[in-house]
Amino acid sequence: MKFRKQSHIDGPQEHDEILFSTPFDYLFPDLARSPECLLPEGEQTVSALKELGKLMADPGDAGAPNEQLDSSVPAAYTYLGQFIDHDITARTDRNGPVSTIGEAETIEPVDPDVIVRDLRNGRRAVLDLDSVFGDGPGLAGTHLPSTTQSSDLYDEELTLRMFDDGRGRVDLPRHDRKAIIADMRNDENVLVSQLHTAFLKLYNETYARQTGTQRERHIRARQLTRWAYQSVVANDYLTKVCDNGVALDTLANGPRFLGPSTGRTANFMPLEFSVAAFRFGHSMIRPFYELNSKSDKVDLLALLGTSGNAENFDADGQLTKARIVDWRRFVGRGSKVQHARKVDTKIARGLFTLPGDAGGDPVLAHLAQRNLLRGFSLSIPTGQAVADAFGISPLGASELKKGETREIATLLSDSGFDQRTPLWYYVLREAAIQQGGEVLGEVGSRVVCETIVGLLKQDPNSYLANAHDPAINDRGVDVAPGRGGRINDLADLLRFAAIGF
Ligand code: HEM
Repeated sequence: MKFRKQSHIDGPQEHDEILFSTPFDYLFPDLARSPECLLPEGEQTVSALKELGKLMADPGDAGAPNEQLDSSVPAAYTYLGQFIDHDITARTDRNGPVSTIGEAETIEPVDPDVIVRDLRNGRRAVLDLDSVFGDGPGLAGTHLPSTTQSSDLYDEELTLRMFDDGRGRVDLPRHDRKAIIADMRNDENVLVSQLHTAFLKLYNETYARQTGTQRERHIRARQLTRWAYQSVVANDYLTKVCDNGVALDTLANGPRFLGPSTGRTANFMPLEFSVAAFRFGHSMIRPFYELNSKSDKVDLLALLGTSGNAENFDADGQLTKARIVDWRRFVGRGSKVQHARKVDTKIARGLFTLPGDAGGDPVLAHLAQRNLLRGFSLSIPTGQAVADAFGISPLGASELKKGETREIATLLSDSGFDQRTPLWYYVLREAAIQQGGEVLGEVGSRVVCETIVGLLKQDPNSYLANAHDPAINDRGVDVAPGRGGRINDLADLLRFAAIGF
């Protein structure tokens, strides 16, 4: 199944997923162009980054719980983070003409001007669920340079296609096990895939409660779904994973480093967010999960590369019952709720032997090495430089090393990374030092809140800009009449979508 698109520039095209093309840029363009704010160029830096990535890989103990590594954040928020990432940013995540980081490559920082000119974001930098809705049936192409065919996502009723056997087995619509959704990355692992399914259901349930013509019901249900999602992101997600002071300050007072107040009016996705800070979520991933009440601990690796893993499917080509997520084990306060791992410099087993697009390349199969080398290749400023730019006092060399393993501390000193620290690593280390790994620290919280709140505040269609609408109130967004229709946090959203609740 391919999505067809008519591009004004390139003519007819076919893709596995629905793509847009919008700009990336740096939050701090001057830093990216100042050698002293970047890692030093050269083979030594590349070797040190590979070594640091290797040392971050936590082999863990197969299936053994280790609560000390857990945070108090319920595990569903990890995948809400990944889902948000896939809604707003794409294409810093793979090799292409601008950046290649395979084992055999000579990796050098690319000129920031070339990056900003040639690396295009494959999503709209708007929290509008383009990863779920495509452009909407019959609404395509009115304001974009290309027309995308998204009618394959909808059935004739204008509900979103999904699989539901009526007995709790809900899944993405699939053909030959491959998901038919607007962003294939949302089938990259079983958890994000089940969360995408919950969003399909959220829209469909909301649609079912609207009145009017099909088109009117579609437009209103899509708007309410987006608003509910946006308010969960702003009021629930950000306050769970970021320093609360920073989250509330940015929500109340707006971003200070992104948007019109900076004199830069063009909308863009900040590279510091996509390539470094928002990848903090990689450290929240657990090495195993109990998916439902009948599930053993399933190794993360078995859940990755969903459609490539036959074990995940029944003969009908849909996810098998054992892989259906019971969200009560992933949100809320119950004793059976699993928690995200702490935000720190440890990366779980399964993430250094990635299936998927790695094609046997050891660097591409290793998420920590991949993040570090991608940041170097895409000229992301160091943690210290970004801290300075925010007016935050940077972590000192001894703070960065204190409590780290001896091997890491030595590597940081020998490579000079204790003075010029890769931003992704800095953000993780800062969270561990300042917040005991519970939430992001000062710099990480700033980049994440500035970006996400900035995108919301720039969007004239967001729930913030439409506070006059009767569906929007202080306690959430009403997607349907009655108490169950009010969505204030992720648990409400999943409950309304009635998946496992
Ligand atoms: C099992 C879960 C996950 C896996 C296997 C995974 C894997 C990956 C991989 C392989 C990349 C590309 C790396 C590169 O080549 O540069 C990537 C990119 C990225 N990841 Fe994850 N990830 C997961 C969860 C998350 C979570 C929880 C978050 C955030 C909360 C996140 C945020 C990002 C971001 C922002 C990018 C860059 C996206 C872009 O601009 O193209 N990921 N991830």
